[in-house]
Amino acid sequence: MQIVSGIQEIRTALRKLRANKNGGTVGLVPTMGALHAGHRSLIEAARVRCDIIVTSIFVNPTQFGPNEDFSRYPRTLEADCQMLEAEGVDLVFTPTVDRMYLKGASTLIEVAGISERLDGASRPGHFRGVATVVAKLFHIVQPEFAFFGQKDAAQIAVLRQMVRDLDVPVELTVCPTVREHDGLAMSSRNRYLSPEERTQALVLSRALQAAQNAAEQGELRAEALSRAMAKCLQQQPAVRVDYIAVVDPDTLLPREDVRSGALLAIAAFVGNTRLIDNVLLPSAG
Ligand code: PAJ
Repeated sequence: MQIVSGIQEIRTALRKLRANKNGGTVGLVPTMGALHAGHRSLIEAARVRCDIIVTSIFVNPTQFGPNEDFSRYPRTLEADCQMLEAEGVDLVFTPTVDRMYLKGASTLIEVAGISERLDGASRPGHFRGVATVVAKLFHIVQPEFAFFGQKDAAQIAVLRQMVRDLDVPVELTVCPTVREHDGLAMSSRNRYLSPEERTQALVLSRALQAAQNAAEQGELRAEALSRAMAKCLQQQPAVRVDYIAVVDPDTLLPREDVRSGALLAIAAFVGNTRLIDNVLLPSAG
């Protein structure tokens, strides 16, 4: 496994790998590091479909707000690389902030409308940062496939729209959310939680489960499902809700009912840590 941080360097490495594998397909798994089993599942999915796997590790400053956790975001490069090596990743791309954002850079990718919904509403500019860095990674690596987690449902909607609008020649693959044994969605930010907060955080997945159960029993009204989630979240007063949403998974616009499927999504603060989780409801027959 090669670890490279230069852009020329990764292009050269990729040219050699493609030549060795007779023009094999490249799969990109973009991450911010502090890797866990959720990230690992993306690499496993990449291994099934691609001949060459590239993982990027880059804590992208432009997707963090001024009062967010950029500087204290966990950085565990050595352990990350051990995991990636064991998973059979071919190339790890670890660029520096200065190289990714050259002095004077002024081009941004704005996926208008959708970027202001869900997390975009609470974190202004967040999805502009995500779309810009992912577009750059696509240009640098030029993968045929890229792998993302359902855990970040709004991110997927934004990136799908970007790929469609800009005719990016990459196929996005979405992998299911990986959870801890008790239902908590895995996240690099779970490391911030105290033992008490770790217990309180379970209310997110429980609230989604409650709404999903209600939908399975025939409750199709979005408002009733939102209420079911809110009621469950209220049982844990230490958890401060950011949003509860029942939306179209592609546009992130609110749904009145879930007859043709819906994304149920929650964001909430547990202490100072903002967590997100979601479930996708299938179309009701
Ligand atoms: P990061 O939070 O490191 O996540 C990298 C990828 O792992 C994302 O596609 C995310 O959805 C996926 N992932 C995280 N937790 C998961 C879980 N529990 N189950 C399944 N997949 C999971 O998302 C980002 O980084 C950044 O925004 C990035 C796309 C790298 C751009 O900077």
